[in-house]
Amino acid sequence: MSKILLKKGTIINADEEIPDVDVLIDNGIIVKVDKEIKVEENVKVIDCTGKYLLPGGIDPHTHMQMPFGGTYAKDDYPNGTKMAIIGGSTLLIDFICPSKSNPSLVDAYKTWMEWATDRIHCDVSHHMCVVAYNEQIGKELEICVKDYGINSFKHFLAYKGILQLEDSYLFQSFKRCAELGALCQVHAENGDLVVEGCNNMVERGIMGPEAHALSRPSYLEGEATNRALMIARLANAPLYVVHVSCKEASDAIMRAKQDGQVCFGESLATHLSKDDSAYWDKDFDVAAAHVMSPPFRPKLHQKALWQHIQNGVISTTGTDHCVFDYKQKRMGFNDFRKIPNGCGGIEDRPSVLWQLGVNSGKISRRDFVAITSTNAAKIFNVFPQKGVIREGADADIAIWDPKATRVISGKTHHSYIEYNMFEGMEITGVPIMTISRGVIACEHQFVDGKIDWKNPKINVDTKHGRIVKRKPFSPYVYSRSIYIPDPEIKQTKRD
Ligand code: URP
Ligand code: ZN
Ligand code: ZN
Ligand code: ZN
Repeated sequence: MSKILLKKGTIINADEEIPDVDVLIDNGIIVKVDKEIKVEENVKVIDCTGKYLLPGGIDPHTHMQMPFGGTYAKDDYPNGTKMAIIGGSTLLIDFICPSKSNPSLVDAYKTWMEWATDRIHCDVSHHMCVVAYNEQIGKELEICVKDYGINSFKHFLAYKGILQLEDSYLFQSFKRCAELGALCQVHAENGDLVVEGCNNMVERGIMGPEAHALSRPSYLEGEATNRALMIARLANAPLYVVHVSCKEASDAIMRAKQDGQVCFGESLATHLSKDDSAYWDKDFDVAAAHVMSPPFRPKLHQKALWQHIQNGVISTTGTDHCVFDYKQKRMGFNDFRKIPNGCGGIEDRPSVLWQLGVNSGKISRRDFVAITSTNAAKIFNVFPQKGVIREGADADIAIWDPKATRVISGKTHHSYIEYNMFEGMEITGVPIMTISRGVIACEHQFVDGKIDWKNPKINVDTKHGRIVKRKPFSPYVYSRSIYIPDPEIKQTKRD
């Protein structure tokens, strides 16, 4: 592996900006960060004048080729990781998801490893979903943490009959995760009441995609988020709420934080940029493309989510990338309940958040790095190997041209589906090169001064990426009591 010297860029980390600085990369690692590093022989020099050097993006929520809704998500590990490096991300944290018919974590792990091994263009780490709980699963949780390097576990309060866990099992699994130093995650929507909402739509004869939104209002997410937080409190377990889409849910996390509870919110680039209007589009394909859970919400919720990014209630941003093409979505043409749930975004998440967050003045460039990379690295315990540009860290770097522009489109993206959730969005500030563990993984080309997004130079194959194991007891999660010290258990003696 050759040495690379990045000359005169501006480093943007979550806690500092360092202008006009040189970064030397050797054997996959950042070995030196200094004002002036001498150019030696056999070093590839890249002039970064006027460019930002950002820690590679970390997408903490993806579903590559996930079996879901009677089909498989279209984008797989090879393509998803290719999209990552094209868009400036260098690590995906993907979900392994067992089924109710075989809830074994060990079996699911083996299946997903077959899918991922030697099939990734950049690094991938994994969360595990817990879809049933018993003594055996409790043992397998330990195997995941100690042998597989998986320290985060998603629990579903939604998808009744498919993935949903009832409260007593949630509690037992949360307790076990806390013993093991793992982080509990929840998909928080009240699954029982979503089914009631669906039945209500069916009774009214509303069977189109708009029924998806109408059947699961935001307060069902608020209820489930609050409940999950209280169950985590009882279990003395830290909690990470995935894809927070609304004011009620983010307010619940804010209240728990105010009470001193260790908990985190994640929002998606899609929920931060889109409202629910598409569900009423006359074109089924357009409406169905937006069917995901939780659904897109009326505008006021977007405002709340951005405020909660500003005040630190929402720590991370992901995509929940889990895409289905028009044909798959049409499985629910006559019945919204059969539209496979999921939307995309891996390739565009950094650009969209730069445009809507930084360019609008809502967040600083440092905040951007925090919510797209560093905070996820800390919470999921890969910091400072990932999520920062400093000596000793992995050389995962996105070189950002703040003046370059592009327009997002399904015509130029690299997803296997026909449409893009951010179609037509104009972006100023573009990742022009992505370095993954010291290798120039993706280089965008310019034609007549315009970025040719469709035809980037990809310089790595699917054997380049590594599966990243993570240790439990992340210091950013477990360094203090999760809630309040256990109450003294007292008993009154009565004769
Ligand atoms: O609709 C969604 N979100 N599909 C992916 C699975 C999940 O719930 O994260
Ligand atoms: Zn130094
Ligand atoms: Zn989910
Ligand atoms: Zn998901």
